[in-house]
Amino acid sequence: MPSILVFMSILITGGAGYIGSHVVRLLQQRNLDVVVVDDLDTGLVSRIGNAPLINLDLAAADAVERLVEAINKYEVSSVIHFAAKKQVGVSVAQPEHYFDQNVGGMTHLLEAMRQTNVTRLVFSSSAATYGMPDVDSVSEDALCAPINPYGQTKLIGEWMVSNAAKAWGLRGANLRYFNVAGAGWNDLADTAIMNLVPIVFAALDAGKAPIVFGADYPTQDGSCVRDYVHVLDLAEAHISALDYLERDDRKFDTFNVGTGNGSSVFEVLAEIKQVSGLNFDIDVQSRRAGDPPALCANVDRIKAELGWQAKNGLHEIIQSAWLAKG
Ligand code: WQD
Repeated sequence: MPSILVFMSILITGGAGYIGSHVVRLLQQRNLDVVVVDDLDTGLVSRIGNAPLINLDLAAADAVERLVEAINKYEVSSVIHFAAKKQVGVSVAQPEHYFDQNVGGMTHLLEAMRQTNVTRLVFSSSAATYGMPDVDSVSEDALCAPINPYGQTKLIGEWMVSNAAKAWGLRGANLRYFNVAGAGWNDLADTAIMNLVPIVFAALDAGKAPIVFGADYPTQDGSCVRDYVHVLDLAEAHISALDYLERDDRKFDTFNVGTGNGSSVFEVLAEIKQVSGLNFDIDVQSRRAGDPPALCANVDRIKAELGWQAKNGLHEIIQSAWLAKG
């Protein structure tokens, strides 16, 4: 689909993070102006090239003021909002912190956008908004019943987008990410050890057998099935969403971002064996609490409305992650 991007500059919150920095780099490659807001808690300044950085915690008391200043200075016309806390386990232990950061931060962002009349927003949402759906392939119209504070903050974020759309004319796209992995560039690799692929790599580095949480699920090989999406494809989906906000006049919309195909934990491990050339033992343990057996995206809507579809599969995801690991 041809790009009709006509932005002055694009403000990217969390632009120094793993996913945000992929979008920053794609936009820079298209010669678009970006400005990054990041508190560098988990973000790395080395990821954003020559983009201006506003070192700011969106939940801070002076955030609205500083955002308004930045929006005016850089003539921002649209925003992509990544900045958030994303560790499910921590969100259960420290719910107040998660609501403060994710909901409080977003409140400040929307307030600053309203004050400056910036009306385009792409919001990083999550498949965690669905909770434990009883279907294997979930569409955007499925019931959202998040099972942890992290997922709840993302669903509230979507409600905030829809409310702002009705109240003052925001145009919003909520992107519900499935399991993101891989690297588009080696220096933008996922440095956090929170999800399956980095956890397996860390175990291998430590000479330990990777763990499979449960091999007795009602799936093809007994392990959990997830929809793994390449971070570079996900980044492209944000550009498609910005384009969509320019050309469509619906108030807001929500899109799954996945491949539509599931891979089991055993399949991921087999791919890691193949790509790395390592033959390692696997430690099958009991189920992890709160894991749905299978969770894949129905991607009909994003294909039809945004013209986006993933180009990479599990092999490219694992290969790029392995190369970036160094
Ligand atoms: C993937 C699969 C595990 C580690 C999480 C969030 C979700 C979203 C994406 C942000 C599961 C299994 C894992 C290990 C294993 N995040 N596993 N051994 O839980 O599907 O989704 O990240 O929006 O909200 O919940 O991702 O990478 O933790 O696990 O067997 O050492 O790998 O059981 O089936 P998950 P994950």
